Amino acid sequence: MEGRIQHLAAIIDPALPPYTRRAFTEPFLRGRRWLQAEFEAAGLSTVTDAGGNLMGKLAGSEPGALPIAMGSHSDTVVGGGRYDGIAGVVAALEVAQSLAEDGMRPRHPLWVVDFLAEEASDYGPSCVGSRAIAGTLSPAMLEAANAQGESLAEALRRMGGDPDRAAAGPIHGREPFAAFVEMHIEQGPVLESEGLPIGVVTGVVGIRRLALRVQGQADHAGTTPMHMRRDALVGAAELIKLVHQRAREAHTHTGLVATVGQMTHSPNQSNVVPESALLTIDARCASMQGVTDFTDAIVREGGSLLAGHGLALEHTLVLDAEPCSFAPPVRQAIGNAARKRGHAFREMQSGAGHDAMHIAQVCPTGMLFVPSRGGRSHASQEHTTTQQLCVGAEVLLEAVLELDATLPLR
Ligand code: GLV
Ligand code: MN
Ligand code: MN
Repeated sequence: MEGRIQHLAAIIDPALPPYTRRAFTEPFLRGRRWLQAEFEAAGLSTVTDAGGNLMGKLAGSEPGALPIAMGSHSDTVVGGGRYDGIAGVVAALEVAQSLAEDGMRPRHPLWVVDFLAEEASDYGPSCVGSRAIAGTLSPAMLEAANAQGESLAEALRRMGGDPDRAAAGPIHGREPFAAFVEMHIEQGPVLESEGLPIGVVTGVVGIRRLALRVQGQADHAGTTPMHMRRDALVGAAELIKLVHQRAREAHTHTGLVATVGQMTHSPNQSNVVPESALLTIDARCASMQGVTDFTDAIVREGGSLLAGHGLALEHTLVLDAEPCSFAPPVRQAIGNAARKRGHAFREMQSGAGHDAMHIAQVCPTGMLFVPSRGGRSHASQEHTTTQQLCVGAEVLLEAVLELDATLPLR
């Protein structure tokens, strides 16, 4: 597992900070080709589905049984670490490979999945491949374009997917898997601070992402009196502060968090009053109502705040991801697996989005976390030790074996 993680850590975009492997790019495809070869060398047959997900399949012993799937994602954020997503893909591969090497034939087929574009993509949506499996990759999402004008549908086709099938509903039918289990790094400090090797994830928060446009007016930076300016960047600064303040207030009652993580402005010249700014709000809370109340309030309050500066505020919805609770039988299987191997664990909710939250809409799903050093993630400092990864893979293996023994075949 460690060798595979380090190998993928070298297949990155040299023009961006380490360890960047953005979905839909050439380094991503190179990583994918290498992963596919690894899947095949481990004895799995491979296919890329209509959602652009790379799948490695180990045959089961019972004809017609639904597969049990495991996996995560190999794309990263810009400057992302070596473990987010990747740890879950290599652990799933290790589980399937170990069974294949030991000549163990599960009753259900066992599929290892590298989902396409889990991270917020340059086209807007996150979790492109898992949404295609859940049947929630909407035509509007597929039409969204990146800065170069390529649509997500075209990009999906470049990855070997089929946007027409992906838009038509769940690409593997209404019941794609008997169960899905995702191992992932925690991406936060809880397990490390409590000295625990395993987190059994109870569910994932709801997420709403909005794109905001602050519209002002370009004017000469030397001749326009201060009180006559409609400076879009000043408006954006007020908006960012509003989001931060309101989120801090809400956090104490509801646990809501919100971030303005992306902003561009135009014309971005030192001697021109900024004309427009585009920014994103990413808001997350255990209750979707909490998320929508928050973003509604920001749009309302932000609109009147900016009107005071002669600025207009427009907003569009980029995505909603409903909060999910994972299936009790899968959570129990993960807890039993940890107990069986003698590893302590706690239950915990995820504040990070995951492919599993989409797969949970179509089959019994669960997740387990392994610790993240210093809670760091979405940064090159992300780290999980080999020992911690091994514990996670052991628990994944035992959980999948229990599910294979207990779940109905179809
Ligand atoms: C994915 O890492 C997310 O939580 O946005
Ligand atoms: Mn991830
Ligand atoms: Mn991530």
